[in-house]
Amino acid sequence: MSEEDFDEFVKKLQKEIINKELEDYNEYVVNLFHNPKNWGKPPDEEITTWHAYEGPCGDTMQFFLKISNDIIEKASFITDGCGATVAAGSQTTLMIEGKSIDFAESLVPEDIDKALKGLPDDHKHCAELAIRTLHRSIENYKSKWL
Ligand code: FES
Repeated sequence: MSEEDFDEFVKKLQKEIINKELEDYNEYVVNLFHNPKNWGKPPDEEITTWHAYEGPCGDTMQFFLKISNDIIEKASFITDGCGATVAAGSQTTLMIEGKSIDFAESLVPEDIDKALKGLPDDHKHCAELAIRTLHRSIENYKSKWL
């Protein structure tokens, strides 16, 4: 197979994968899954608090927060979960950056699901994993710093 043929083959395959995902998830979720915001573990000096949480499905998520004067200046995450989990983690970080810890604590899984324009019923728990991980990270912050 020539290099051009191989590139064409990969493009076709990627398109098929995305089309398959669009059967299960809306376009917003698929985009966020393929281009997650705030993905990755930052350097230690940029982490005020963090937490790793394992959901009932066995997937894990980690949140890393940089907090100053009770304001979340930076939020990032990693997960070994599915596409919906990546989108949920990403959406959660987008919603809390620049906000107070009180605001972050007030968020519930339904807020994330709504912001994602609706996850399929069998993936609603992915938003719950993101919120539980966030809330545990804040609990760690409070027990250590307040
Ligand atoms: Fe486990 Fe999404 S399938 S959190």
